[in-house]
Amino acid sequence: MTQKTFYITTPIYYPSDNLHIGHAYTTVAADTMARYKRMQGYDVRFLTGSDEHGQKIERKAKSVGKEPLEYVDGIVAGFKKLWEAMLIEYDDFIRTSEERHIKVVQDIFKKIYDKGDIYKSEYEGWYCTPCETHFTERQLGENKTCPDCGRPVEIVKEESYFFKMSKYADRWLKFIEENPDFIQPVTRRNEMVNFVKQGLEDLCVSRTTFDWGIPVPINDKHVIYVWFDALTNYISALGYGTEDDSLFKKYWPADVHLVGKDIVRFHTIIWPMILMAAGIELPKAVFGHGWVLLSEGKMSKSKGNVVDPLVLVDKYGVDAIRYFLMREVPFGLDGYYSEEALVTRINTDLANDFGNLLSRTTAMINKFLGGTVAAPGEGTEFDEELISLAQATPAQVEELLDKLEFSNALIAIGKMVNKANKYIDDAAPWALNKDPQGREKLGTVLYNLAEVIRLAAIMYTPFMPTMPQKVWAQLGISQAGEIHTWESLKWGLFPTGTSINRGEPIFPRIDIKELGKQEEVVSETQPKQEVSQAPEAPEFEPILPEITIEDFAKIDFRVAEVVSCEKVKKADKLLKLSVRVGNEVRTIVSGIAKHYTPDEMVGKKVVLVANLKPAKLRGIESRGMLLAASHGGKLEVLTLDNIESGGRIK
Ligand code: ME8
Ligand code: MG
Repeated sequence: MTQKTFYITTPIYYPSDNLHIGHAYTTVAADTMARYKRMQGYDVRFLTGSDEHGQKIERKAKSVGKEPLEYVDGIVAGFKKLWEAMLIEYDDFIRTSEERHIKVVQDIFKKIYDKGDIYKSEYEGWYCTPCETHFTERQLGENKTCPDCGRPVEIVKEESYFFKMSKYADRWLKFIEENPDFIQPVTRRNEMVNFVKQGLEDLCVSRTTFDWGIPVPINDKHVIYVWFDALTNYISALGYGTEDDSLFKKYWPADVHLVGKDIVRFHTIIWPMILMAAGIELPKAVFGHGWVLLSEGKMSKSKGNVVDPLVLVDKYGVDAIRYFLMREVPFGLDGYYSEEALVTRINTDLANDFGNLLSRTTAMINKFLGGTVAAPGEGTEFDEELISLAQATPAQVEELLDKLEFSNALIAIGKMVNKANKYIDDAAPWALNKDPQGREKLGTVLYNLAEVIRLAAIMYTPFMPTMPQKVWAQLGISQAGEIHTWESLKWGLFPTGTSINRGEPIFPRIDIKELGKQEEVVSETQPKQEVSQAPEAPEFEPILPEITIEDFAKIDFRVAEVVSCEKVKKADKLLKLSVRVGNEVRTIVSGIAKHYTPDEMVGKKVVLVANLKPAKLRGIESRGMLLAASHGGKLEVLTLDNIESGGRIK
């Protein structure tokens, strides 16, 4: 069987002196995906690069007394340094100034021209030079400004080549209808469909007012306008149409182009139409992600609120920055960056939840078992829940990652980690250690914990490439490469008899007050501010997949009155309730004992799931389930006052 391929791209970046954390967002997402697919055994190709042509660069280079290429060389070197620091493992870096790219762009231009879909005409209109974009009069902002960046636009009049986009509108609409997953997320698809339905103008694809670009093959007074040039990078990098097009044959069509929401239109309308005109297959999907924002708005260099990822990597470590970006900003939506949010994530998810799990587990293996992981044997009543979650999590994480739901995938891993932390509290290894009959159980509990940590570290690997090495070292399995693989995400592979090496915390807690002090040092002119610890906001569970109204109607919710209630013996979380539903009295068992006393429950009218399959809890048959909301350690039972017991809720 031939290996399955996976081709993923980021946009090619405009040369800018410093890329900010928003730029790193796209590359980190692409790299995470590429690493995940490599771990799954795919033959992955991950492309990034630089988009070097255009009037803006030409002017900028001149202003610093350099040739455009010379100017851009320095900046591209900076990109590569940043990607190295962010552990971005691209397979190819394409520069639009490279001969291999120029040739392909010219060939495609010629091909479409020969076919009659590119023609010469005259262009007159408004143009924003910094954004390299044309606008119609009615698109302009107040006082003839660019609707995107707010800067003044110029009138330009020139002979230009045009691409007959209008000709491809119907074919495009049909394609989108037949390939509903081409534009993701779905909200962006609807925007694009509406845009095309409003009618397309032909696209201006050449310029005569500057030289820093790819010459039009049939007329060297013109250079090819930026988007026609830039978009072609995705196939020029594969050697499309050249003597050696083996990469193109192997990897095209791309599995996904990742792009920011500002350039979705270019990627989902213009690019497919260029490909249609050139007779080339379309990519499988384009995913438009949201913005990483600062509280003052979108990051941009001109606004002077750039956050330098190199500085952050130096200060907090690359794993933590990558984790933050993928966890904090749900892919597809906008999200905020702040140093406090970053530190809170590090402290909560990494230091507290995962770091502590490793630290507690290795401490107990040392203290109770002389540093050696024992073979699992007789277990505890808490094992089943932990193990079944650990067995279910990898498939769930895969499903989420395949949909590019990075933050939900991390939430799923985090749930398993937190279940393991709770398992420590429930199974209480320190008590088992004191119990002469508890040795075997103690060994099992600590084995289970080591195994959950192994599974979590594997699933974290695409996100945090350096952290797992530290975990393997502490668990004493550095040499056992076969149990670090994606394929080894199966319960029970942890080798027994392993000697562990407890070490330093893998994610030391960051003192947020120290952070405040550092800021004081750099900004002595600013009034002193108390930087307080951000409250550790509890996570909300992700919303479950969509269901239909018919699915919902299958659930029979009823008003039920609690007639009596008592504690369940030897189960500190359970209450046994008798509830009256109309004329019927039923027994139900509910895990609310930590939040309500039996007396508090009697007389309440609660919401009962009346047609739930009965379940046995501690030997008691529970016929239905009552509804309760829980969040951040609190729990509240849903109640009604004015509807008779037996009434249906829908
Ligand atoms: O658009 N948050 O290049 P670019 C999230 N050369 N993403 C952000 C961001 C932020 N604050 N700021 C920028 C270009 N990005 C073209 C692409 S592709 C054929 C040509 C993202 O350097 C932005 O959305 O302006 C885009 O996906 C990428 O960074 C490069 O932006
Ligand atoms: Mg941009």
